Amino acid sequence: MIMTPEVNRILYGGDYNPEQWSATEWSEDMRLLGEAGMNMVTLNVFNWAMLQPDEVTYNFEALDETVRRVKENGLSVCMATSTGAHPAWMARKYPDVLRTEFNGMKRKFGGRHNSCPNSPSFRQFATGLVEQIAEHYRNEESIVAWHVSNEYGGTCYCENCEKAFRIWLRYKYSTLDELNHAWNTPFWGHTIHDWDDIVAPNLLSEHFADNYTMQQSISLDYARFNSDSMLENYRMEYEILKRYMPDIPVTTNMMGLYKPLDYKAWAPYLDFISWDNYPQNDDSPARIALNHDMMRGLKGGMPFALMEQTPSVSNWLPQCSLKRPGVMRLWSYQAMAHGADTIQFFQIRRSPGSCEKYHGAVIDHVGHENTRVFRECAALGKELSGLKDRTLGGRTPAKVGILFDWNNWWAIEYSAGPTRELKYVDEVLNYYTAFHWQNIPVDLIGCEDDLDRYSLVIAPVLYMVKPGLDERLKNYVKNGGHFLTTFFSGYVDENDRVTSGGYPGKLRELLGIWVEETDALPPETENAFVYGGNIYPARTLCDLLHLEGAKALAVYEKDFYAGMPVLTSNRFGEGCAYYVATRSSEAFYQRYISKICDDLDIRPVLETPDNVEAACRERDGEQILYLLNHGEEHAEIKLPFPASCLLSGKGYAAGDICALPPKGVALLQKRQL
Ligand code: GLA
Ligand code: ZN
Repeated sequence: MIMTPEVNRILYGGDYNPEQWSATEWSEDMRLLGEAGMNMVTLNVFNWAMLQPDEVTYNFEALDETVRRVKENGLSVCMATSTGAHPAWMARKYPDVLRTEFNGMKRKFGGRHNSCPNSPSFRQFATGLVEQIAEHYRNEESIVAWHVSNEYGGTCYCENCEKAFRIWLRYKYSTLDELNHAWNTPFWGHTIHDWDDIVAPNLLSEHFADNYTMQQSISLDYARFNSDSMLENYRMEYEILKRYMPDIPVTTNMMGLYKPLDYKAWAPYLDFISWDNYPQNDDSPARIALNHDMMRGLKGGMPFALMEQTPSVSNWLPQCSLKRPGVMRLWSYQAMAHGADTIQFFQIRRSPGSCEKYHGAVIDHVGHENTRVFRECAALGKELSGLKDRTLGGRTPAKVGILFDWNNWWAIEYSAGPTRELKYVDEVLNYYTAFHWQNIPVDLIGCEDDLDRYSLVIAPVLYMVKPGLDERLKNYVKNGGHFLTTFFSGYVDENDRVTSGGYPGKLRELLGIWVEETDALPPETENAFVYGGNIYPARTLCDLLHLEGAKALAVYEKDFYAGMPVLTSNRFGEGCAYYVATRSSEAFYQRYISKICDDLDIRPVLETPDNVEAACRERDGEQILYLLNHGEEHAEIKLPFPASCLLSGKGYAAGDICALPPKGVALLQKRQL
């Protein structure tokens, strides 16, 4: 269980902000939540101004009233701390709480997620508020989880942050000599002789655009520092909450593959992971699944909470397309298939004003239950309550690990050369999609996670090799593991200093290759290679490499490097290390990955037609198989085993067909023979 042991059901509900509408609607809200089969609400996400109208006054009356009402209606509470947006009086009297933008612009009051993480006033007032809330609600038994702040994010470049950055650097490097070496400051005469000479890297200093920096190492350290600063903010609230209620789990809502925060570094400090799933209109099912798997991977495969999703539209997209009938249900089960143990929405009722008044909600402005969206939410509520606790706690049985690292992400995309076309997440997605398409479960893992539980570890664009990782990879392969990496790997250490002696640096021996040069291709240009009798494109980057023990599986077809290896494999101890020297097409990744999986006896959880995803979670030796039809056509899946569907109650014998309508879902429990 990710929450308290009493939560032995799928929590179903969402963000409820009754402060925005009148008391006459509150009892109707309660009736409608009941009709929708909801059993929880998230309260108090943005109430700081209400709870603390001035510096010395705290007022919990309104929140008490809401808590009383939801409790009376049998709802559990996920209680937020309200520190995601500071009150106006604080910004006026203590301007150090305001952030400074990347371009050096000091902000005024407005927006949210707007506090400087290193502002002494913010820290003091935030801890003061959380202390009050924790004390006030310490015995409130409807609270099943704490929700710290909201969607931490962004970056601040104010003077307080700059000062804190210098302290952070002193702690990291101890001496200026160390720092000057790590940052290679003799370049352009940037040697630092005094800690106070260090300034925040932004448009006023080393940057000429967001991802364009003239000094990668300082920008990289600043990204780490900013993530750490916000983590400190989170931890300062966490400690207080734990002091008052040690048994209630604490989380903060994350945002999937969100670049500015190193969630892997945050994860140990969250009791459970929770995240907000807001796909763009054209996101593939694989991209959504990748985000879920990333969130599940943060705490070694532990189930997570789907803290937010929209029941219908997201107001912030350029075109706020409706989720088609069935899609909200389909994506809810997709979240569960990848590890979610709760299904929660933003928002329960549509705001009457401001920028989220046209964001989707369970209860629309019309105010009653006779809407398509409400009916879909209520139908899902009924199904989820029927599942009771049967899906909770299930783990994903993955034999494949994809290595993902935030520092690597930052470093790749700060790099000046070899190409601006390279986007880390897209490269990871290329590989991930090849597994997803085949219904092969994958774990997303970090540099320090255990490798030995996987038959295959893939590290797309492992540009930065952190200390010790090369040795761990070597041992893993030596002992029989299989490892695959790609172009632009092994180049630098954790400070973005090149590992000299030939690319791919510390991975050279393991891969049995030397990359002499890399050609960046303009978007419309391609090279090609033949693999398994088919010709595939080579795009974006093409390494020119020499074999040093590895064998070539394919070679370039064109240009002056025609005939040079593009795919290699290297036996190393009991295992094998593969290298893919270019970016190719979806067809290639599917072909290549299925070949490797075949060789390693890594099997799909089920074979399904295109557009039907199958994923599986296991608990106590029992498997639940989620079948998700993302397509627009009816689909038929032949079941090789007897099963019964937890949603429809239908039983299947081995060899029977499970038919799914477009956007349809089945949750199959395999029956013992
Ligand atoms: C985020 C926030 C919510 C709300 C939604 C709208 O996830 O956490 O407060 O703004 O976005 O999409
Ligand atoms: Zn700041």
